[in-house]
Amino acid sequence: MADQPKPDLQQGISVAGLRDGEMLLGHVGDEDVLLARSGNEIFAVGAHCTHYHGPLSDGIVVDQTVRCPWHHACFSLKTGEAVRAPALDPIACWRVERQGDRVTVREKITTPPARPAPVTSPSSVAIVGGGAAGLAAADMLRRQAYDGPITIISADDSPPPDRPNLSKDYLAGTAQEDWIPLRPPEFYTDNRIELLLNSRVSSIDVARREVLLENGSRRSFGALLIATGAEPIHLPIPGADAPHVHYLRSFADSKAIIQKTQQAKKVVVAGGSFIGLEVAASLRTRGIAVDVVAPERVPLERVMGAELGRFIQTLHESHGVVFHLGETVKSIDGRRVATSGGSTLDADFVVMGVGVRPATALAEQTGLAVDRGIVVNEYLETSAPGIFAAGDVARWPDRHTGERVRIEHWVVAERQGQTAARNILGRREVFDGVPFFWSQHYDIPINYVGHAERWDEVRLDGSPDAHDCTVTYLRANRRLAVATIYRDRESLKAELEMERSS
Ligand SMILES: Cc1cc2nc3c(=O)[nH]c(=O)nc-3n(C[C@H](O)[C@H](O)[C@H](O)COP(=O)(O)OP(=O)(O)OC[C@H]3O[C@@H](n4cnc5c(N)ncnc54)[C@H](O)[C@@H]3O)c2cc1C
Ligand code: FES
Repeated sequence: MADQPKPDLQQGISVAGLRDGEMLLGHVGDEDVLLARSGNEIFAVGAHCTHYHGPLSDGIVVDQTVRCPWHHACFSLKTGEAVRAPALDPIACWRVERQGDRVTVREKITTPPARPAPVTSPSSVAIVGGGAAGLAAADMLRRQAYDGPITIISADDSPPPDRPNLSKDYLAGTAQEDWIPLRPPEFYTDNRIELLLNSRVSSIDVARREVLLENGSRRSFGALLIATGAEPIHLPIPGADAPHVHYLRSFADSKAIIQKTQQAKKVVVAGGSFIGLEVAASLRTRGIAVDVVAPERVPLERVMGAELGRFIQTLHESHGVVFHLGETVKSIDGRRVATSGGSTLDADFVVMGVGVRPATALAEQTGLAVDRGIVVNEYLETSAPGIFAAGDVARWPDRHTGERVRIEHWVVAERQGQTAARNILGRREVFDGVPFFWSQHYDIPINYVGHAERWDEVRLDGSPDAHDCTVTYLRANRRLAVATIYRDRESLKAELEMERSS
């Protein structure tokens, strides 16, 4: 069916049929504009998400916000602000004139929203870690009108990257290099954010409020955020540190793998993790033969359950990936990769995707409370007042499960960085976000909301093979998490229900 022409909203349109929570896609000049009704109010906003350009008209309206169907960013309909990551930039807003049931969209609103002054304003903020949580925190500090010095200290050699892309489109060769930095260089200068790259913090002097860098220099701080993320696990097997054995965390790691693909024909991926399998998919897109060696009976069964795991396995097999399941890599000797099952696989290079560990060394050495992650309270503050932690490294009291959890998701890390920033400024905001992640295998995206480490029932609605399903994970009849394929609204609604039910 041909697309319906989009109405010109400057000409005026009847909204008699537009009910609360409904949206209508139109245009103003050559820009797509969304009319959205929330309660009795009608708003006109940009129709595309500022993260990856997701179609907001396929999302949902909740309390004067619109949520993106693809990765659940959330925008204020009143101001356009990206109130929840992964989008960081606002969408445009237009002035709406209303006469009875007829609305006309007028000019774009250009005045930025008013900002309340911070409750407290530390003399300076230091952020250890140039990743998702660190960048989102620095960005939020400025959005919240914090005017003092901000320094991001990062062990990486490049500015905070779009890390999820490093195993997906960028590695597959379908995303350009300039898509990877989350922010362009001028963002840091314009916002007076000092970015120290290739700089590792070696210790924190809590009493003197100073961080010590490996190069011997010191930085004082008024408030500190530890956002050191996680580090790939290195297996204690012969050959694990050979030059042709790759680990994938940083932009540099992804570039190094791409460099190797120029000559390579065969690769072994050790581990059936999300990252391992995304690497497998991307390397298949580049025409490289891929063997995956993984100890599970079914890939991703522990996270996604057997049904979805088998679907992902079949999907990869249909693209030529060969699985060696129930096996581990025992040793790597040049091109020869020996498995626990007794086979020897030939590989030009190896990618290790056997999981990560939270980067807690700095916190441990500082004497902060650490329990399989840096222990933080509901405000993301560590055991030392004024020192916060966020992202993959933090273990927090989760309101939804009633347990302390540590989660390795992009959106969680960014949202925690944002909450930590507001709390550094004295807002005392509880972090109570429902975890969300997505993963992409070839052209199939999987969205997952909630958190289910253990479940006693899995309910499947629809069919993974038809690329149209919802999988619900329950314990004692309580819904803990929901995975979907091409049912984005259901995923958004499940997230909303979880937010409201606990
Ligand atoms: C290849 C890849 C693909 C992924 N895909 C997805 C996905 O599709 N969906 C999803 O939800 N999640 C995905 N993730 C997970 C997601 O990227 C992480 O959850 C997220 O990056 C965590 O953010 P963070 O800020 O806690 O840590 P990071 O983003 O890892 O940042 C940590 C930073 O700390 C720095 N650092 C560490 N120690 C020190 C120190 N002592 N001094 C100074 N700097 C230090 C590091 O150099 C780094 O800059 C993926 C991860 C990878 C690696
Ligand atoms: S495209 Fe909207 S959140 Fe990613």
